[in-house]
Amino acid sequence: MSQTLTIALSKGRILDDTLPLLKEAGIEPTEDLEKSRKLIFPTTDPNVRLLIVRATDVPTYVEHGAADLGVAGKDVLMEYGSQGLYEPLDLKIANCKLMTAGPVDAPEPAGRLKVATKFVNVARRYYAEQGRQVDVIKLYGSMELAPLVGLADKIIDVVDTGNTLKANGLEPQELIAHISSRLIVNKASMKMKHARIKSLIDLLAEAVERRS
Ligand code: ADP
Ligand code: PRP
Ligand code: MG
Repeated sequence: MSQTLTIALSKGRILDDTLPLLKEAGIEPTEDLEKSRKLIFPTTDPNVRLLIVRATDVPTYVEHGAADLGVAGKDVLMEYGSQGLYEPLDLKIANCKLMTAGPVDAPEPAGRLKVATKFVNVARRYYAEQGRQVDVIKLYGSMELAPLVGLADKIIDVVDTGNTLKANGLEPQELIAHISSRLIVNKASMKMKHARIKSLIDLLAEAVERRS
């Protein structure tokens, strides 16, 4: 019996970097995902379909079994908490660093530090480990703005080239984690569809290996 696999991806760099890997595993969408407004896509493999969700929603779809597999940044997984998921493969795509950043040459504030970020759980954990008192302010994007208008002293965000920080008079400070995107798998799917998922993981692992 053939088992259907549902894979959750997000538009943008994860989709751009995952499609070539899936292609090497014999899976290609039958239409242009970036152009379509649809959210479910068939592929050249009749037993594989792709879902398009927000990057931060990928772990939710996979943990609840609405998707068997997904691709998510390690930053998103650190924030979501990955004990409800398997994370069998580092795809080595969408590489960046999760960092603290602040205004260039700004002195450390005397009192409680105000940190703006969309990674509030990561931020609380990071400063708790340092025994540092902080107020964490939740944002959903454009974090770089926060220190410029007095909303926060620092931000926590992903940094690649550093151009976004630089363009806003900020500098990278402490490295929290090296980030890349990971294949994640629903725990029940891994049991129920083991052979199918194992062979896909192996094909993707070979594709990743050929690149490095
Ligand atoms: P979002 O819409 O949530 O910002 P992105 O497609 O920008 O989604 O980011 C998806 C993942 O790619 C992030 O979780 C992170 O791991 C990684 N990422 C984000 N920004 C960059 C960047 N500038 N360079 C490389 N990787 C990045
Ligand atoms: C991401 C991230 C930073 C920027 C870092 O934004 O949130 O703003 O990339 O990359 P850099 O160090 O190379 O400048 P993205 O491009 O994903 O835009 P977004 O605000 O739409 O998420
Ligand atoms: Mg982004």
